[in-house]
Amino acid sequence: MKIGLEGGFIFDVTYLAGAGKIEEHQLESCRDLFLKAEEKMTMIRKEGVYEGHFSKDGTPEPVLFPGLLQPNPEKMARLKEITEEAKRQYDTVISFGIGGSYLGNKMLFDLFCGPYWNQMSKEERGGCPKLYFNGDNLDPEHTSGLIEQIKREAGSGKSHGKNYRLLLIVISKSGGTVDTMATFFVMKEALEAEGIMLDVWVITDPAEGDKATTLGRIAAQEGWIRFEIPEGIGGRFSVLSESGLVTAALTGVDVDQLLAGAAMMDRACGSANWRENPALLNGALKWLGAEKYGKWIEVFMPYGPDLKSLSEWYVQLMAESLGKKKDLAGNEVDYGRTPVVAVGTTDMHAQTQAHQEGRRDKIVQFVSVKKWRQDLKIPNLYRDYKTFASWNGVTLGEALEGARKSNEEALASDGRWSANLVLAELNEYHVGSLLYFLMLSVVYEGILANIDPFDQPGVEAYKKILGPMLEEIRESKT
Ligand code: PA5
Repeated sequence: MKIGLEGGFIFDVTYLAGAGKIEEHQLESCRDLFLKAEEKMTMIRKEGVYEGHFSKDGTPEPVLFPGLLQPNPEKMARLKEITEEAKRQYDTVISFGIGGSYLGNKMLFDLFCGPYWNQMSKEERGGCPKLYFNGDNLDPEHTSGLIEQIKREAGSGKSHGKNYRLLLIVISKSGGTVDTMATFFVMKEALEAEGIMLDVWVITDPAEGDKATTLGRIAAQEGWIRFEIPEGIGGRFSVLSESGLVTAALTGVDVDQLLAGAAMMDRACGSANWRENPALLNGALKWLGAEKYGKWIEVFMPYGPDLKSLSEWYVQLMAESLGKKKDLAGNEVDYGRTPVVAVGTTDMHAQTQAHQEGRRDKIVQFVSVKKWRQDLKIPNLYRDYKTFASWNGVTLGEALEGARKSNEEALASDGRWSANLVLAELNEYHVGSLLYFLMLSVVYEGILANIDPFDQPGVEAYKKILGPMLEEIRESKT
């Protein structure tokens, strides 16, 4: 079975639903649950309310990510105006952030700019700056390496930084995350000491006064340009907010098309009928797969190395949304499937052995691209060798899809489950639709599992230990 949508998006569940897998009657028997799930989704869309969702401090918190699909026109015009001007002005941008303030940006960069962006000339980049990421780790060597790279780019000696313009963008909703802020402080100090001219922009919670984040206060004090991650948008749901759109716009990504694709998906996923709502079907199949058949692992496996960070973004979305100890009634349920990053064809030479013969606790979720922006024919350089001759004239794109299909069929031949998400092309519209599809899917699954997919109390546990530990380290040095 497949659900196809406007523009060519296909959710193919041939190897996940049907005889010997999750059967139609099982989906049919959940009709009432699906109706309730759709009612809850409507409450989120219309009222911004998910009953039982509370913020860290225990007060009810709105859930507003669907509102990102109708951005405020004035804010959008400002974003475009500022980023358009900055594209011309800056040679290099460094984006600081972690988790939801990093993974979406990195994914869009990899998908639309590719691995050689920073090696191209500004003209080849369409007048856009280079883009580096930092703040997603506290590793000192990683940050030292980037400092050295920026020094090389800026030029050495007294002329340091004279014509070189650098922009640091600090993204943190809470405005105090140690990984992001510590690396930003280290780099700002080191680069200014080198005489490199830099500006800073900040993307944080827009609260003012007493509720302002520390980063927001510093930005106000310094007069830095500010963008916002609005209230009710969790990090993992924020890629379509200014948190993700600013760096995307700076690298020439068509942000309107991203939002248009997401809005199309939203319209396509508004039914309680699993045959007509692909995100509901995805959430339901993954939930039933886990609860009824013990498929607690989802191997997210797009084909194409530039799509690897799509897997990494999805891992955060799924892990933080679905890994919950308690249900909405407070019962201990320890719900949560485990996401695994994989990429084809690379991981067919690494992980596939375990998918094909290991424990039957996995669903392999493929993502394939129907038409690549560029494709290349495999030439026949050594005609005497028959194996190679049989590939002659096949394109790399065709071989890539052939490899994916072979993997899917090999898994199915041993009753192993997979599904495929097909994007017509790797452009902003289709990527926007895929991201929104995945966000809706995990929300539907969270609703069906009766958990809160919008909180992440589990990440507070280590933070309570880390704060005092840093304090202790500082004291031990004085
Ligand atoms: O999903 C989340 O909320 C987290 O992963 C955050 O995105 C991450 O911890 C970064 O937080 P902040 O944006 O507040 O720096």
